[in-house]
Amino acid sequence: MQTHNKEPSPGDASIRLGTTRVVFLLGTLAIKVPRCTSWKLFLNGLLANMQEREFGATGWPQLCPVLGSVPGGWLVVMRRATPLTYSEWSTFNVRKWRNRSTYVVPVENKWDSFGWVDGHIVAIDYGS
Ligand SMILES: Nc1ncnc2c1ncn2[C@@H]1O[C@H](COP(=O)(O)OP(=O)(O)O)[C@@H](O)[C@H]1O
Ligand SMILES: [Mg+2]
Repeated sequence: MQTHNKEPSPGDASIRLGTTRVVFLLGTLAIKVPRCTSWKLFLNGLLANMQEREFGATGWPQLCPVLGSVPGGWLVVMRRATPLTYSEWSTFNVRKWRNRSTYVVPVENKWDSFGWVDGHIVAIDYGS
């Protein structure tokens, strides 16, 4: 597969709503905090951040790097990834990519769970 060279520009900012977290995309960073819409979503958002903090610490190269985090799941800061285009996604074999020799990458088979960082596909929503 061809690598994607488009990197986020420093002044580029936006907000994304995930299932359990709100994500602030600021320049080269993705900052994740639990959603406050309901108590249950908030708790699930804390857990999702705790999972990414723990899995991020493994250093597995298939996971988008966690640059910083607060214990308890209050905040995770990741590298900002560039989304896969439709054609990149349609030729991407997730099952094959996920199964490594000594572990399975904990990511759902969903287009928006992946992105490009430094020319490699990484999981950006992982661990749950
Ligand atoms: N590291 C990242 N780089 C770029 N965009 C991201 C990153 N992490 C999350 N996003 C964006 O935010 C959305 C929600 O984040 P996600 O981790 O999926 O939250 P949730 O676990 O609540 O679904 C993603 O679908 C994606 O669009
Ligand atoms: Mg998600």
